[in-house]
Amino acid sequence: MEEIPVIDLKKQYQSIRPELDAVFARVLEKGSFILGSEVSAFEKEFAEYCGVAHAIGVASGTEALQLALMACEVGKNDEVAVPAHTAVATVSAVEAGGARPLLVDIDSANYTLDPSLLHRILTARTRAIIPVHLYGCPVEMEPIFQFARDNHLFVIEDCSQAHGASYRNRKVGAWGDIAAFSFYPTKNLGAFGDGGAVVTNNPVLAEKVRLLRQYGWSEHYISSIRGINSRLDELQAGILRVKLHHLDVWNARRRQLADLYRELLSGTDLVLPAQNAGHVYHQFVIRHPRRDALREYLKERGIHTLVHYPVPIHLQPAYTDLGYPAGSLPMTERVSREVLSLPIYPELTEEMVGLVCQAILDFSAQ
Ligand SMILES: Cc1ncc(COP(=O)(O)O)c(C=O)c1O
Repeated sequence: MEEIPVIDLKKQYQSIRPELDAVFARVLEKGSFILGSEVSAFEKEFAEYCGVAHAIGVASGTEALQLALMACEVGKNDEVAVPAHTAVATVSAVEAGGARPLLVDIDSANYTLDPSLLHRILTARTRAIIPVHLYGCPVEMEPIFQFARDNHLFVIEDCSQAHGASYRNRKVGAWGDIAAFSFYPTKNLGAFGDGGAVVTNNPVLAEKVRLLRQYGWSEHYISSIRGINSRLDELQAGILRVKLHHLDVWNARRRQLADLYRELLSGTDLVLPAQNAGHVYHQFVIRHPRRDALREYLKERGIHTLVHYPVPIHLQPAYTDLGYPAGSLPMTERVSREVLSLPIYPELTEEMVGLVCQAILDFSAQ
């Protein structure tokens, strides 16, 4: 039985091996490993790709969010609105700077922050909103901007799952005051270790993040502000430069595979992802009322899947003191019981998608 994994990073490496091996040789020969010419070149190329003026390479997506908040001076005694259905990192980044996360329920179509609920959670302490382009699906930004403008809030995009996604023909990351990306290896644009970036059109925020990511140094060993250590290294930047060249082709392939899934699953009782031209399908997420049984059935047939996310943050042991009891975020809670992420990655074949869909159809016909 052929196993179908949820992702195959070995295959991706093999498909671009000579380009990557050249990077390893170049960086190792040069002998400079932190914040050097590869990082500067990547920052320039990634900013251009996103359509923004500045990109700053940092050590992870979580710290990219944390640094973006620090640059906006959002911290102690402040509140930040975040979707309740997201990676725990979105919430932990808010708390790392001392701010309080305000969890907002999601809309049932895109699983992203429901802007119609924002007025209910706003207080005098609310300083920012973090829309998360979850699963690669761009958030409907217009109503969020309207709300942010009316209430003088920063918009900090979490683009960790949405490299290359666009809303109204502008890339995500170019909409907010500032935005964060993760380059965790499984992302649409992934390094071979941890990595992240902050992007912005605002030169003041960009300069602050540049200082903050390295001890607040304005020059070597002189801190003009208090910062942290969150640097991108040369090897990761070199790898990301190579992969950035392939990102549009890889995202197009993900869209093609998503279309095929849609076609083959159209007659079933599954809830499929909403159609969205700017989606980059970091995940292809379906919903099924008997999700766990379906997942087990697929696993027995060698088809691997994931659940993003099985327990909402507010119901996890570490976060019960956030103050959101069970039942308080109903759409988030329902979605986490029903979602299932099917395999999707550029190296997946049409034949494999066919096998996944056939197994789902067999499950439904039982
Ligand atoms: C939506 C979201 N935000 C933030 C992060 C944090 O990124 P990292 O793992 O690079 O810290 C992730 C990555 O898992 C993510 O998916």
